[in-house]
This record gives sequence, structure tokens and C-alpha cells, in this order.
Amino acid sequence: MSDLHEPVLGWYDAHARDLPWRDPSASAWSVTVSEFMLQQTPVARVLPVHAAWLERWPTPAALASEPAGEAVRAWGRLGYPRRALRLHAAAVAITERHGGEVPAGYDDLRALPGIGDYTAAAIAVFAHTRRHAVLDTNVRRVLTRLLGARELPPTAVTVGERARATALLPDEDATAATWSVALMELGALVCTAARPRCGECPVADACAWRLAGYPAYDGPPRRV
Ligand code: ADE
Repeated sequence: MSDLHEPVLGWYDAHARDLPWRDPSASAWSVTVSEFMLQQTPVARVLPVHAAWLERWPTPAALASEPAGEAVRAWGRLGYPRRALRLHAAAVAITERHGGEVPAGYDDLRALPGIGDYTAAAIAVFAHTRRHAVLDTNVRRVLTRLLGARELPPTAVTVGERARATALLPDEDATAATWSVALMELGALVCTAARPRCGECPVADACAWRLAGYPAYDGPPRRV
């Protein structure tokens, strides 16, 4: 048990946004649709489209039974419409290979079309409470600052970074899942890329980046 767990989990409990795909009753399919939509689109824009999709296609089989063009049309203005085609292809594969149930294992998820490392981990953890580090941009930035004393992580996830994130997971699987979404939320709301609100951070006193005097990012040019 790390000293970081309790303050971060307590902060999440008090400050997390109430989002439909985080509801304990959300289906694995609802989580899957949300993760595809959230890849490049902010939460506020995803919310109405996500609700409309789940209403129209409550299961992977429902989506798979319609032409891919319908998925693109219903994607609306979320941007990067190729994601709609990938989600449709994933729905077809889930229907054909997994009897219409979103698989729980990381490797089965990773083998689906359109699902990369982040999305496979997010679905395994948030939909099925599997134990896995979830390394999205927000989580990576928070951990890099807290533990690595740097402003931003390297462009690609490193072996050491993954090992460190995995070692930091709480022992219990459900708590580990909450820990991952709590880090994600901390990065989205407090430990932001441009203007971190350290006065609101539950672990500011333990933050290596803060203790080092906020050294500026010194790696190769990158988008944040
Ligand atoms: N909750 C679970 N996954 C999320 C994501 N990708 N973005 C925002 N909130 C989330």
C-alpha cells in the first residue's frame, strides 16, 4: 500500500465527475463505446452522442447488424470519424468471436480491430475490473510529475514507466480500477498540462516535480 493511495482515492470520491460510463451498472459495451469516443474528444461533447449510441445500439450485435455507414453517420461531429468504422469493426468481431460479449482479458481485447494498448487496458479495467495499469496521457503526466520529478512523460510509454505504474496499483482489483480512474481524473481536473492547480492537489506535498521546483520539460518536442 502506497501513501499516495488514500489521499488520491479520497479526492476522487469527493471530486469525480458523475459520468454514465463510470456508473457501476454501465455495461461493458457502454464502457467500450465511451473509450472509443473519448480517445480524441472531450467529455462534454461525448456525453450526448454516447447516450444516443447506447439508445440505438445497446449491444455490440445491434451495431454489427447495421452497415458501417450508419455508424459513421451517427458519429456526428465527434471528429476523426475513422473511429466509428473501427468501433463498428470491433462490434462485428465481438459478435463473431465472442458471442456478442465484450471480452474481459487484455489479450482478447487487444486482438480486436481498432483497439490499441490504452483502450484494451481501459476496457479490461473499467468494464471488467481486471488488474492492469491504464496509461493514458493524463495518468502518465500525473505519475511522471509525482514520481519522476519531470513535467511531462516521454512520447512513448517506456518499460520502466509501465513497471512503475503496475507496481503502484493497489492490491485489491476493484481498488486498483478506482485508482486508475482517479489518476485520470486528477490529470483532467487538477494536474493539467498547461496550468496545474497544485493548491487543489491531494498529493502536492509528495510530488517530486513540485519538490524539485517545477523543472521545465527538457525532452524532444512533443504535443501535450
Ligand atoms: N473515465 C473512464 N475512461 C475515461 C476517459 N478515457 N476519459 C475520461 N473519463 C474516463
